[in-house]
Amino acid sequence: MDLELRDRHALVVGASRGIGLEVWRQLAAEGAHVTVAGHRRETLEAAAAEHGLTPAGYLVFDIASEASIDDAIAQLDEAGTPVEIVVLSVARPGFDSIWSFDVTEWELNMRTKYIGPGHFSRQLVRQMAARGNGGAIVMLSGIASTGAMGDTLATGGANSAIDNFVKLLASAAGPYGVRVLAVSPGTTVTPRFEQWASDETVAAMSEIVPLRRLGSAAELASVVTFLASPRGGYVNGTTVVVDGGLTTAARYRAVAPEPEPAAAVQP
Ligand SMILES: NC(=O)c1ccc[n+]([C@@H]2O[C@H](COP(=O)([O-])OP(=O)(O)OC[C@H]3O[C@@H](n4cnc5c(N)ncnc54)[C@H](OP(=O)(O)O)[C@@H]3O)[C@@H](O)[C@H]2O)c1
Repeated sequence: MDLELRDRHALVVGASRGIGLEVWRQLAAEGAHVTVAGHRRETLEAAAAEHGLTPAGYLVFDIASEASIDDAIAQLDEAGTPVEIVVLSVARPGFDSIWSFDVTEWELNMRTKYIGPGHFSRQLVRQMAARGNGGAIVMLSGIASTGAMGDTLATGGANSAIDNFVKLLASAAGPYGVRVLAVSPGTTVTPRFEQWASDETVAAMSEIVPLRRLGSAAELASVVTFLASPRGGYVNGTTVVVDGGLTTAARYRAVAPEPEPAAAVQP
């Protein structure tokens, strides 16, 4: 399927690694011109060198800072880059403990994952609406919004907030042809995950997923890329869950017998 991305201008925030890096790779493979963004130019350049990618440009800013965001928006304005596709794949590394996190850390994680991306998105919607060519903004949420999942004090709250925010911004941006939506990953093997997960943890986490495995960054990026493309043009104001079936199946497992695997019921 041609995703109709050739020669379109895209911006990927958090492109240095993980899901954002895979989105960069896939958008570029589809022929889009991809400007990559993050808070450290060196990690973006290292990713470009390691993966043989050539970005259309670099935009270095701290998404946790309102002033830095406004400066980035001004830079895009001055450059006249007609960004039509925006992906925000950002979070601080590590866990956010319900007991040990102080309010400063709590706020910083919320600003990095939700408030900053939210402010950046609404500023971009203004630019995109003024340009009149439509476009799409895809934020990364996460299934920690759906329940108590370990130490996800800020992450869980930020994900819930993003799921709501995309509805709000989509309703305001829709009349200008700009779509806003989120993708919510289940446990996905990215450098953030590999930093802490042992083989035993991977096996235990895989076992509770109906597909009996974790997601890959490439699988998540494929969904993001499709939804950001004109081919996903009628998906708007919603969060698309990509978790191997975990959140729809897991809640009953403690009290109900699991359905038999298909092989057991076939002749
Ligand atoms: N992986 C999972 O299992 C999973 C599950 C659910 C949800 N998610 C969500 O999916 C998204 C991507 O996850 P991931 O695992 O691919 O993340 P990741 O590998 O940790 O990448 C995070 C990216 O954010 C950038 N970044 C961090 N702080 C920033 C700041 N202040 N300003 C600008 N950029 C900043 C990082 O840049 P540097 O490399 O330069 O630090 C990096 O490019 C996140 O929102 C995450 O919460 C992931």
